[in-house]
Amino acid sequence: MKIFKNMVLFAALLVAMPISAETASESDSTDPAPAAAAPATVEEIAAGTCAGCHNADGNSVIPMNPILAGQHAEYITKQLMDFKANGEEPPKRNSPVMSAMVAALSQEDMKALGAYYAKQKTNPSQAPVDESMLEVGKILYHGGNIENGIPACASCHGPNGSGLPPHYPAVGGQHAEYTLSQLDQFNKGDRANDNAVMQQVVSRMSAHEKRAVSAYIATIR
Ligand code: HEC
Ligand code: HEC
Repeated sequence: MKIFKNMVLFAALLVAMPISAETASESDSTDPAPAAAAPATVEEIAAGTCAGCHNADGNSVIPMNPILAGQHAEYITKQLMDFKANGEEPPKRNSPVMSAMVAALSQEDMKALGAYYAKQKTNPSQAPVDESMLEVGKILYHGGNIENGIPACASCHGPNGSGLPPHYPAVGGQHAEYTLSQLDQFNKGDRANDNAVMQQVVSRMSAHEKRAVSAYIATIR
């Protein structure tokens, strides 16, 4: 009976669209589907592609590479999308390394990766910082610099650096070297994915202030 039905279907397909006649056998439920590679799970992507630089749980120990563990999911997903070139347009956030990493990721992968890192426990930066800078950094972080029109970082990133989802990322405990690199990139326009908020903030900071606030941020929990 089944064979008969399939034969009728096959014949019908042959008449209707001879070129795709082979697909008739594929729709037969008794035939095992051709072995398609199962899509990688988020754990596989994190362990296989990302771990070398960010560690499997997102707690990078390399000060150049950001700690992702405990970061807000929406923020991570946004950054992954911003690293991706959109057709002819260059990525909003310029990083040749990360652009290569996200090229093969789907939007679902990026959402899943955001959720994955958000639920990992943060292991704050252990990299040494210049202690002599912490006082200046602390004042700037919590109070800004009225003279130069620098707003308090805490007003958006929170007094303990935990940020406020979905828009304001957590910064507390991040490696100072990475934070400083981002402040410079906002300034140069290499990172132009911030709707000019961070660009405005950073354009008013001196090199010393940027270093000081980056060191202080690494120490807050
Ligand atoms: C070869 C090293 C390397 C690999 C592998 C790598 N990254 Fe990165 N990642 C970096 C560096 C370096 C940066 C900082 C880029 C910059 O300067 O803006 C970064 C930045 C990021 C950021 C932005 C974090 C923030 O706080 O804004 C996210 C999210 C991220 N990576 C996720 C991933 C994911 C997910 C993968 C795997 C699919 C991955 N990375 C693989 C090196 C790497
Ligand atoms: C008016 C709100 C606001 C203020 C004030 C502010 N920020 Fe931000 N900051 C943001 C937003 C929004 C982003 C995320 C931009 C994006 O989507 O990429 C951000 C991103 C960052 C990042 C990148 C984090 C990462 O993981 O890559 C750093 C570092 C940062 N801010 C540091 C600071 C410092 C230091 C100050 C104070 C001098 C400050 N911010 C003041 C809103 C603010």
